[in-house]
Amino acid sequence: MPALQLTVNGQPFTGDVPRQTSLLHLLRNDLGLNGPKYGCGLGQCGACTVHVDGTAARACVIPAQGVAGRAITTLEGLGRRGHFHPVQQAFEEAQAAQCGYCLNGMVMQAAALLAREPQADEARIRSELSGNLCRCGTHVEILRAVSLAAA
Ligand code: FES
Repeated sequence: MPALQLTVNGQPFTGDVPRQTSLLHLLRNDLGLNGPKYGCGLGQCGACTVHVDGTAARACVIPAQGVAGRAITTLEGLGRRGHFHPVQQAFEEAQAAQCGYCLNGMVMQAAALLAREPQADEARIRSELSGNLCRCGTHVEILRAVSLAAA
């Protein structure tokens, strides 16, 4: 199998990656990017969300080989303290976290939405995030944060 080539947070990556390796495994275990989280491993909770060419996608169910040549962005590539993405800034301002495990997925899903629809209303935000689970029940604060970023 030829070496996998893709871009992660603007940096080129080339490496031998087994066919069964998920994108999430590559990012976390091989590249040390722990923004995306392992939740269900089944594409159902959203904790592992990354952007693939700007579109939100669940890294736990995507084979790394399946995104050859694509541009991957993780939470680390979206923004960092001191240079936060507006969605990250809004989450901090709204204190929209309890345990924080779902936040990667919430932020990445919301950032992809607002890139397409910068002024998405609450109904649209609610619909977009409906597949992202928060076991703490912090949805009200999360919706407020994303609405702040959309304003
Ligand atoms: Fe990927 Fe739950 S860990 S969707």
